[in-house]
Amino acid sequence: MADEWQDPYDFAVEVAKIAGKIIRRAAEEEIKVNTKSCTVDLVTATDVRVEKIIIGAIKEKFGEDTHCFIGEESAAAKGPSVLTDKPTWIIDPVDGTTNFVHGFPFVAVSIAFAVNKELEFGVVYSCFEDKLYKARKGKGAYCDDEKIEVSDIKDIHKSVVISEFGTNRNVDVVTEICATMKRILLIPVHGIRGTGTAATNMCMVACGAVEAFFEIGIHCWDVAAGAVIVQEAGGVLLDVDGGPFDLMSRRMMSANNRTIADRVIKEIKIFPAERDDGK
Ligand code: IPD
Repeated sequence: MADEWQDPYDFAVEVAKIAGKIIRRAAEEEIKVNTKSCTVDLVTATDVRVEKIIIGAIKEKFGEDTHCFIGEESAAAKGPSVLTDKPTWIIDPVDGTTNFVHGFPFVAVSIAFAVNKELEFGVVYSCFEDKLYKARKGKGAYCDDEKIEVSDIKDIHKSVVISEFGTNRNVDVVTEICATMKRILLIPVHGIRGTGTAATNMCMVACGAVEAFFEIGIHCWDVAAGAVIVQEAGGVLLDVDGGPFDLMSRRMMSANNRTIADRVIKEIKIFPAERDDGK
């Protein structure tokens, strides 16, 4: 049987690289910054422009009405992001907008594709590093065409864990996040890191640079592509309570194996986050 999703997969790689080039160029010009949910939730004209370019290119290639889209910058205008059985592109045009604004060199274009609510492939282009991560369901994960695999470390004391502070500045939420970070540091682990982009963080798990990355408060577009890449690299994807991963829950734990995931999960103080699908 012909491979129905190979063409969209190849196109996602192509379009992610084009988007990355636009982002690199935009970084050399004056960056116009606006805010979204609060004063630290940033959006730039480049976020909006790149999302339009990506969606426009996909529509031109595959037709106006054949595919659905969940894009970070168009989501607010559309209301809750509902994933249906239809082929759906889940796009974060600039993952790491704060990094982009400040010239901190980790910014990714994240493009995922789901059919029947199942993720088929994910592409993450870390555009300042010029590294392209990609994975298709059942076909392995790659960085610049080289196969990648998660690390084989099972001893938490030999691990590095990534987490992020996100954009929620509610004092109770910040207190819980800091408490979790402290508990993990004191396990002790070798270190806690964070690149400022969820998509790149997940690629760090996938290529074995760190053992786990978790966050509460991320959105589906931040993690959809990375979800395929981590799993195809041999890692596990879970909820932060150890249950099954739910793309719309705004909670995500990715790790090289279940032993590491469970040990980190023990230390996570869970706080509420409104779902992306409004359920
Ligand atoms: C953000 C990044 C960041 C994470 C935030 C996300 P954005 O995405 O992925 O690492 O901590 O929760 O919102 O807004 O730069 O696309």
